[in-house]
Amino acid sequence: MNKAVIGLQWGDEGKGKIVDYLSEEFDLVVRYQGGNNAGHTVIVDGTTYKLNLIPSGIIRGKVCYLGQGVVLDPIHFYNEYGQIIKTIESPKIFLSSNISLILEYHKQLDKINELILKNEKKIGTTSKGIGPAYQDKVGRKSIKLYDLKSKNIIEEKLETIKKFYDPILESFDESKINIDKTIQDLLSFYESVKELIVDNSFIKKEFKNKKILFEGAQGALLDLDHGSYPFVTSSNTVSSNIVIGSAMQVDYKTVGIFKAYATRVGNGPFPSELFDNVGDYIAEKGVEIGTVTKRKRRCGWLDLVSLKYSCEINRVDELCITKADVLNNLSEIKVCKSYNSKKYEEVNFSDSVILESLSLDDNDFESFSSWGEIKDLSNFENLPENLKKFISYIEEYLSIPIKIISLGPERNQTIIR
Ligand code: IMP
Repeated sequence: MNKAVIGLQWGDEGKGKIVDYLSEEFDLVVRYQGGNNAGHTVIVDGTTYKLNLIPSGIIRGKVCYLGQGVVLDPIHFYNEYGQIIKTIESPKIFLSSNISLILEYHKQLDKINELILKNEKKIGTTSKGIGPAYQDKVGRKSIKLYDLKSKNIIEEKLETIKKFYDPILESFDESKINIDKTIQDLLSFYESVKELIVDNSFIKKEFKNKKILFEGAQGALLDLDHGSYPFVTSSNTVSSNIVIGSAMQVDYKTVGIFKAYATRVGNGPFPSELFDNVGDYIAEKGVEIGTVTKRKRRCGWLDLVSLKYSCEINRVDELCITKADVLNNLSEIKVCKSYNSKKYEEVNFSDSVILESLSLDDNDFESFSSWGEIKDLSNFENLPENLKKFISYIEEYLSIPIKIISLGPERNQTIIR
């Protein structure tokens, strides 16, 4: 059966490691949304791999595919692919010809978008041009990978784009669109990657009846429609976007992945956020620093209310918990089980004003005793009793089994039940 690995929080749940782990039994690993706003750090046998666009299945030599729902920055892809070629023997990567590109002016517009918002209204984007690139896609202005075959088509599209954006760029003292340079850059990019570009029909035919692993980027609570708007990313991160973003009409099982606590980068509501030294401790012990932006992540207790919502909107079949080892030495571990006594069905998770107005109290949390160091990772039964109680509580709350327990960055720090 095909599988999808989907983040259930605000991203950074550890999808990269789990995709690397699971990809052994799959033929193809597919990204279907987002761009280089995602960041994965995968450690295999002491070697650290840093990936933004290319699925972590590449480390095991699996064929990787970036589907039409991805937005691709040519400069970034060229560099990331260059690194991969140096470290992995004959990597196999395909790009959908229908992918929309992120160009320089998207990054400038991302900056302007943030600039015009007042302090607390700023989204805190990754500044990679993601939002403006998706805006162009919806606005029917994108330059697609398939356009790069023709200088004339690129030129014609850029002329329209220039008319549209130059007045804005100019009024914010940003450099205007340089058509000649952009064309030259795109044509030379095309020359270096044209062997990787395929039509959707190719990948469908080539991988018919093969096993596919879909790699989500960001997390369900950053989904454009389901997340805390406007503090979201600009794509649909949920599993139902797989069919559109990959153009593959296949069935799959969904593995929902979450950290044993919660983190968020950028602004937006975070009901279980910690503002004390426990939050600082988790950030430090968990090395909670953004892979893409190097910003310190905000930390809080695991939020089961939003997790239940994420499981529902993704139709999660099974769960994976990561980084419980970060909490080992805390004397008390909490999980959020209600929002001011409200159940998740009563919360509007896409209205950030409502979410921001919540103020949780002790009754909204369940408390667990410390489980101490985890000495034996050989199987679930040998885990500390208090950690098993914590895991059982989550399973009961969500009515979904936790099948994968990741307790460290290496492949062998993973328990499968
Ligand atoms: P954008 O995707 O760069 O437009 O950023 C929108 C919001 O999503 C910001 O709060 C970012 O910090 C957040 N975000 C985007 N990608 C990721 C990710 O991969 N992990 C965590 N947060 C992300």
